Amino acid sequence: MSYYKIENLEQYFKHYNKSIREPRKFWGKIAEENFTWYQQWEKVVDFNMAEAEVKWFTDAKVNITKNCIDRHLSKRGEKTAIIFEPNDPSEDALHITYNELYETVSKMANVLREQGVRKGDRVCIYLPMIPELAVSVLACARIGAIHSVVFAGFSASAVSARINDCESKMVITSDGGYRGNKTIDLKGIVDEALETCPSVERVLVAKRTKTDVKMKEGRDIWLEPLLEAALDNSVAEIMDAEDPLFILYTSGSTGKPKGMVHTTAGYMVYTAYTFKNVFSHEENDIFWCTADIGWITGHSYILYGPLLNGGTTVIFEGVPSYPDFSRFWEIIEKHKITQFYTAPTAIRSLAKESLDYIQKYPLKSLKVIGSVGEPINEEAWHWFNDHVGDKRCPVVDTWWQTETGGIMISPIAFVTPTKPTYATLPLPGIQPVLMDEKRNEIEGNQVVGSLCIKFPWPGIARTIWNNHERYKETYFSSFPGKYFTGDGALRDEVGYYRITGRVDDVVIVSGHNLGTAPIEDAINEHPAVAESAIVGVPHDIKGNALYGYVILKETGEVRNKENLSKEINQYIADHIGPIAKLDKIQFVSGLPKTRSGKIMRRILRKIAEGDFSNFGDTSTLLNPEVVEQIMKERIS
Ligand code: PRX
Repeated sequence: MSYYKIENLEQYFKHYNKSIREPRKFWGKIAEENFTWYQQWEKVVDFNMAEAEVKWFTDAKVNITKNCIDRHLSKRGEKTAIIFEPNDPSEDALHITYNELYETVSKMANVLREQGVRKGDRVCIYLPMIPELAVSVLACARIGAIHSVVFAGFSASAVSARINDCESKMVITSDGGYRGNKTIDLKGIVDEALETCPSVERVLVAKRTKTDVKMKEGRDIWLEPLLEAALDNSVAEIMDAEDPLFILYTSGSTGKPKGMVHTTAGYMVYTAYTFKNVFSHEENDIFWCTADIGWITGHSYILYGPLLNGGTTVIFEGVPSYPDFSRFWEIIEKHKITQFYTAPTAIRSLAKESLDYIQKYPLKSLKVIGSVGEPINEEAWHWFNDHVGDKRCPVVDTWWQTETGGIMISPIAFVTPTKPTYATLPLPGIQPVLMDEKRNEIEGNQVVGSLCIKFPWPGIARTIWNNHERYKETYFSSFPGKYFTGDGALRDEVGYYRITGRVDDVVIVSGHNLGTAPIEDAINEHPAVAESAIVGVPHDIKGNALYGYVILKETGEVRNKENLSKEINQYIADHIGPIAKLDKIQFVSGLPKTRSGKIMRRILRKIAEGDFSNFGDTSTLLNPEVVEQIMKERIS
């Protein structure tokens, strides 16, 4: 019996039970039957949750690109692996076959080797959503270099912080990028970032916008001529199962971004398995995930998951609103998309536009539609189900995280009955538990608590780059022996999970995971600012918006509030990126603090929401008069 594909609900329960009772047999069989290995493992899993140590498929040898590309060539060589849909709809889409992907990835791998990149070196990839991005990621994996993709919306200082943290040796970027009617000067941002990055020896520059850019002698090289000259076949590096495959930075509750490290074999097995099942992937499907490859969703479900299954995946360079709000629907029709995977923010922003945009397109090719990145509210769920899925496509509300590598709790298309706003049931291998404030596991159904996972799964991140202590502290100390997700959840009467949102200092804005601490750090850099606190408030489209409380250094009346607010937002854009700008800024004389000096964010959150009732336990509050003042001056 194969465990790779779940066909019905009964089988789901069977597989689930097997995965819990005999996880080694379950994952061992999946790994053995569905992937190409140079050498088998000694142990399927080896772990010590208290020490945050997890290993899967120990001592096995593998290369993920052999599994994504080479092994498909005999059967699927002429099949399209990647469809590239450009920002400008009048530009032709590109269809890259598996044979072509093999050749280009080989060329790129050879270029990287010629340019001095070796196994274990870190390569920062700062590219728009163009084929070179996919090719660079895969070429790194081919030669065993660790890719660190930085989303091309991040600012120069965010880029340099990420390069310095893992000491990237190389940066791969482009002359520029297109997004809607904007052109983004990526090379300029890289140049600025590299002023403070001594580890970078080489910058490879792809051509996209054909803008005139400065090339620094001895450091910067155009990519195209190198690729033309390179050989189109390559030997894949033999990797240990636990060799790092990539680093991906995510915000945390302190200022420094966390470089989550994913390793090779476990991530491979888990993304392939979850992709196959959640989206019910079949041979002739055309899968489209609208995320950027700069986020984990893009890593796992634009690239690795689909390619590991020999699928066809779409890379879209543009935005849903350009040239107009029908762009997504037009693309689905044009490429006959079968699975469409997007974020609640995108759904909400398109739902507020006229139905004419979508009703022009029958969208008959669609089979499954999916949502990821933040809780999906009931209204958005129904709009998605009614107008995109035509009430016939299952909606898979997939809950997971950068740290989990792949989808954890989600309906399995055509298997799990869906329920609006519910991520429903854990996938096989995933053992969620809800914990109360006293760190006890909450048994039974119809309960609410902090969501933890009590047994390792193959896709879990193994550490934070160069900081295992922080990894242990962040994820394994709140509830000893368990992985703490940072999310709250409820379990309904039949055991379905609904994710209620973050319970820590991370706010999800338009599906982007933003730690409040790095934003506060950026604001505090402004010479006029003494202190600040950021909270999330519910927002109709973005899910959450950011509301900032700022104490200025000068006492007395604040002059030029508007200019100051603009300057503060510019600081945030420069330090992090425009996605982290504040919607509202309230200048205050003080912040509510506990006697131990901790800001009581709970109160600030309530005030920002306009809910002045029930601040909870305020007995430890040092300065209640400040609360009165802040309530009076709240910005509505
Ligand atoms: O709060 C949860 C929310 O997004 C967080 C993870 O963010 P990130 O690491 O950026 O990864 C996003 C893409 C996997 C989670 O802790 N989240 C993600 N998916 C859902 C969700 N919240 C509710 N429902 C979801 N389906």
